[in-house]
Amino acid sequence: MSVLLSELLNELKGKEIAEQLQILASRFPGEVVFSTSFGLEDQAITFFIASNKLPVKVFTLDTGRIFPETYTTWSRTVEKYGLTIMAYYPDSFAVQEFVTEKGPNSFYESVDNRKQCCHIRKVEPLQRALKGNKIWITGIRAEQSSNRQDMPMLEWDEVNQIIKFHPLLNWTWGQVKQYVSRNDVPYNPLHDKGFVSIGCAPCTRAVKPGEDFRAGRWWWEDSSKKECGLHIHENINEEIKQ
Ligand code: ADX
Ligand code: SF4
Repeated sequence: MSVLLSELLNELKGKEIAEQLQILASRFPGEVVFSTSFGLEDQAITFFIASNKLPVKVFTLDTGRIFPETYTTWSRTVEKYGLTIMAYYPDSFAVQEFVTEKGPNSFYESVDNRKQCCHIRKVEPLQRALKGNKIWITGIRAEQSSNRQDMPMLEWDEVNQIIKFHPLLNWTWGQVKQYVSRNDVPYNPLHDKGFVSIGCAPCTRAVKPGEDFRAGRWWWEDSSKKECGLHIHENINEEIKQ
């Protein structure tokens, strides 16, 4: 796998993002997917895909607990770009059992409950969305957390058996904002109210000036636990880091 990763990395090096996405889409036809949560980074990538008519499949994981503003952004994006965005949902029986047994907001009570909720509402649907694909594009940026700082732009995801590509890895928050604004890309209005990283409504709050990017996610938990299981980064990718 590391040979393929190095080969791909060489092909992508120094290219514009639209070209990088085109290279991947041509090399793996019908097997490149992009996951969007309609955050600012994802909106920038959606713009690259839509404006260049790239054959990349786009999907979102609707956990059932996202903000009304996120649905508005989703809807505005589909209207503006005429894109098909595949919606994936949690298994209804799993949600039913979990909520019946533990209540609707049990994620505040323990890390285990929180992880279980994330597993049912995000991780398991993600596995279905990624199945049968070869490349998974995300809006991850290094600046978002210490955990993401050492991520390579291209990495092998052992858990999901897929190559992940993070085209905006080295962009700053300011660059993303400027790109979205210059291209008049619709964005989540919560970003104008102090929300930076936006996930589910009960688990996301605005951040104060000077606070970390992910301070508003699962803010009641110890910062070392703040990943929901979508992105498990292994250091086996060290040798192919850019
Ligand atoms: S999370 O692991 O904490 O939830 P984060 O919100 O930082 O992830 O988003 C990082 C990337 O994960 C996004 O750019 C997007 O590619 C993907 N992602 C996160 N949440 C979702 C979602 N609900 N649906 C689809 N993709 C998502
Ligand atoms: Fe559940 Fe919160 Fe995870 Fe959303 S972020 S899946 S509501 S625990």
